[in-house]
Amino acid sequence: MCGIVGAVSPKNIVPILVEGLKRLEYRGYDSCGVAVHHDGKLRRTRSTSRVAELDAQVAAEKVSGGTGIAHTRWATHGAPAVHNAHPHFSGDRIALVHNGIIENHDELRAELQAKGFKFESQTDTEVIAHLVNHLYDGDLFEAVQRATLRLKGAFAIAVFCRDEPHRVVGAREGSPLVLGVGKGETFLASDAMALAGVTDQIVYLEEGDVVDLQMGKHWIVSRQSDGSYKRVQREVRTVHAHSGAAELGPYRHYMQKEIFEQPRAIADTLDGVGGLDPSLFGDAAARVFDGVDRVLILACGTSYYAGSTARYWLEAIAGLPTNVEIASEYRYRESVPDPRTLVVTISQSGETADTIAALKHARSQGMERTLTICNVATSAMVRECKLNFITRAGVEIGVASTKAFTTQLVALFLLTLVLAKYRGKLAQKGEDAALRNLRHLPSAVQSVLALEPQIISWAEQFVPRQHALFLGRGRHYPVALEGALKLKEISYIHAEAYPAGELKHGPLALVDVEMPVVTVAPADDLLEKLKSNMQEVRARGGQLYVFADADTHIESSTGIHVIRLPEHYGALSPILHVIPLQLLAYHTACARGTDVDKPRNLAKSVTVE
Ligand code: M6R
Repeated sequence: MCGIVGAVSPKNIVPILVEGLKRLEYRGYDSCGVAVHHDGKLRRTRSTSRVAELDAQVAAEKVSGGTGIAHTRWATHGAPAVHNAHPHFSGDRIALVHNGIIENHDELRAELQAKGFKFESQTDTEVIAHLVNHLYDGDLFEAVQRATLRLKGAFAIAVFCRDEPHRVVGAREGSPLVLGVGKGETFLASDAMALAGVTDQIVYLEEGDVVDLQMGKHWIVSRQSDGSYKRVQREVRTVHAHSGAAELGPYRHYMQKEIFEQPRAIADTLDGVGGLDPSLFGDAAARVFDGVDRVLILACGTSYYAGSTARYWLEAIAGLPTNVEIASEYRYRESVPDPRTLVVTISQSGETADTIAALKHARSQGMERTLTICNVATSAMVRECKLNFITRAGVEIGVASTKAFTTQLVALFLLTLVLAKYRGKLAQKGEDAALRNLRHLPSAVQSVLALEPQIISWAEQFVPRQHALFLGRGRHYPVALEGALKLKEISYIHAEAYPAGELKHGPLALVDVEMPVVTVAPADDLLEKLKSNMQEVRARGGQLYVFADADTHIESSTGIHVIRLPEHYGALSPILHVIPLQLLAYHTACARGTDVDKPRNLAKSVTVE
């Protein structure tokens, strides 16, 4: 989603700003821009093309300067068009970039228009630029502090002023913003990754912070409950952020690379897991787990499906009643809080606005036992939770989540086992068997990846389709949901998933010869029921594409296509069964010629509500 980079330096910072945007590109955007202080004036270049084009444009236009800001925009208010791209100017004095959403923008716009400010865009951002300009009285730091008091919603901003050539001011509320401390220069970014290779000295700004960046110096103030600001010191941490621009190697897309990295990602996530000790989740874990009698999982998208799978494990293995809630819904629902609940957030990025807000909502209801499963150790989610487990998937660049999902499942299975043991529900034999299975998982995943050639031949048959159904049962129903999400987000084929027993309650009406029905068929307790559901599809002419465990005895025949998975994997079977669904979506999307790593309208990190 939107990305911010800013800098104050004695040298030309345009290459650093543009490089920073390139590192944030994978998050998804539809326009980009850069503005600098140049010879006493504001200069700006914006584009609705890729950052590479912006780079060429700034070179052609000879845009340079030591103070500047840059942005990748993912449109919310106003179409993806150059006039809506950031930076936004207020007159020839203020330049500003913004991540987030300003909820009271209509009211502010009317107020500023009445004062004579002319608007050039449909964005909520432009109101902030004009507001800062309106409140400016020779000190940008003060003007931004006063402006932020008027804003409702979520924001991270970076702003500079024509009249103060060596100063950038940043502020955050609800959207992440970091400060980078260099030698004689200072930086701002929405993510430490944007500053990889520039500085590893990072300050994570907190809610309500406003920061003043000057050459090699910075000051931070924090908003108090009475609306005043107080000077604060924030810890400078050494952060080894990885570059988003990881090498593609022999792969065609990052998504393909990330699918094939899963054996390694799972092995890394399990590395150092000797036994089932609560401390795997943090030093305070035993204290937090003590007295827990239910679990509430909060997440979005793929992470929500990981949580939905874990519910089956937590209830069956640890005996803990578990609720899994879509984060964006939970926060607006009147629910019954219970302080003995372990609140688990799941997030690849750790920056998903809806999940963070849901977590805060749970805490505000008195549920303080919080744990996050996250792929980014430095993220807001990790900082907000008492306990954490960091998955070691490595940087995930493809918008469609793959290795983050399977490593989240590994972490959730470990959590289930730890809680089960802690509650006396797991005997030593069960613990040994479960750990053995986990350790064998990377090689089991490797064997499933070897099915790629067969899946490619199926993908060809999906290319002309407009719709697809996915079926699963029990703990494989969330796997079917995840398969459908993968297919729709990257191939743009409408896909829906159902628990197979639900077919006859409605979706069966959709089934005819044109409808491919992808079926997840593990050799588990529900297999016979699933076979009956498959018959219901065949009787209506539907084409079944079945991923079946070797010992299911489901054979290929007219209208039934079968790919066999090498082994049945018991409770961990969802981790194996999702792999072919990822590959099916990937190869269908490739054959349809979509932008696999950056599907239309989507962003990697969804930092607005
Ligand atoms: O970073 P998060 O795990 O919190 O992101 C949640 C969803 O936005 C994400 O899983 C999304 O659904 C993916 N694009 C799915 O592939």
